[in-house]
Amino acid sequence: KFEGLALTPPMGWNSWNTFATNIDEDLIKGIADAMVETGLRDAGYVYLVLDDGWMAMQRDKDGKLYGDPKKFPRGMEALGEYIHSKGLKFGIYNCAGSKTCGGYPGSRGHEFVDAQTYADWGVDFLKYDWCNTENLNAKGAYQTMRDALYAAGRPIVFSICEWGDNKPWEWGKKMGHLWRVTGDIVNCWDCELGHGTWSSWGVWKIINMRKDIRKYAGPGHWNDLDMMEVGNEFSDAENRSHFAMWSILASPLIMGNDIRSMSEETRMTLTNKEVIAVNQDSLGIQGFRYLNEHNIETWIKPLSNGDWAISFVNMNQEPFNLNFDWLKHELGDDLSQKFANLKNDLYKIRDLFNHKDLGDTSMPLKATIGVRDVLMLRLVRQ
Ligand code: GLA
Repeated sequence: KFEGLALTPPMGWNSWNTFATNIDEDLIKGIADAMVETGLRDAGYVYLVLDDGWMAMQRDKDGKLYGDPKKFPRGMEALGEYIHSKGLKFGIYNCAGSKTCGGYPGSRGHEFVDAQTYADWGVDFLKYDWCNTENLNAKGAYQTMRDALYAAGRPIVFSICEWGDNKPWEWGKKMGHLWRVTGDIVNCWDCELGHGTWSSWGVWKIINMRKDIRKYAGPGHWNDLDMMEVGNEFSDAENRSHFAMWSILASPLIMGNDIRSMSEETRMTLTNKEVIAVNQDSLGIQGFRYLNEHNIETWIKPLSNGDWAISFVNMNQEPFNLNFDWLKHELGDDLSQKFANLKNDLYKIRDLFNHKDLGDTSMPLKATIGVRDVLMLRLVRQ
């Protein structure tokens, strides 16, 4: 029941990046409505995940969690019904420790009763955090919650949020469907934001932080680069590049912006079906950096049917004139044993953001890439 729940990277929305613990029923219903009206649901974003701050500060007299009655006066089960009535899936948050990162009651010692509570509410996705876990063994703690979910019997996607300190990629596949690989993301291009004992990380810091873990990703089990910051004060070009990278890297695509008020340009980026298809490709191979010449980050991902995705991100402060001679390149991936010999094999070129055909790989490709923008292509095997 639990296998096969995330054969492609999960897609959805999470409240944390924009709202932190300021969440309530009206907000969540508004988000559910927006997911439908903006076409996000139909583009594949089905999980609506409430992050930290949904709970009452204490358990009830039976030791069960319940929603903060001020924020969620109709209760969590009714909220789940509303979410389901929109054709969406219901996600919720808790923590392996004694308290969540925001100080709400954690699941430590209550795993089985909490899993049953979520199942009773119709929860479909659990993000499980790692604050306040003194003397806990990470692998063991996630295993306990996994067993509790199994025992409750409802298929629930299990999202491990351990930040990478205990190498969750080495054991996460047995415990859940996705695991965070770093600390928290922040909406900057390449910064580190210090908070005393911990830091949050810009988009390119996260991309470059973990080397050599792509082999742990695959259908059913994914390296999670954190909720996206697309639409959170980035330029349209930066939004496209961020989205292209999460797609190439086969990361879960969990939005973190206020989709009720996003710009049309942001909506078009997030609902770009051709880019999403790269992320959701059935082979589930995480892409990797192929080249970095002239400050053009060039990343590739093998796709089904012998196709390839390739992204050129311009890290320069001015537009870049790309002149890419396919005949001088070979695309290869030792890990998945996929190889494209561009001298012998012909590929048609599709521009995934401009939705245009750009000829084929027999001719060098010429294109101008704006500052921090991306040229993202699909090479279609002929
Ligand atoms: C941690 C997680 C975040 C978020 C907050 C909530 O920092 O990494 O994604 O869930 O806790 O408090």
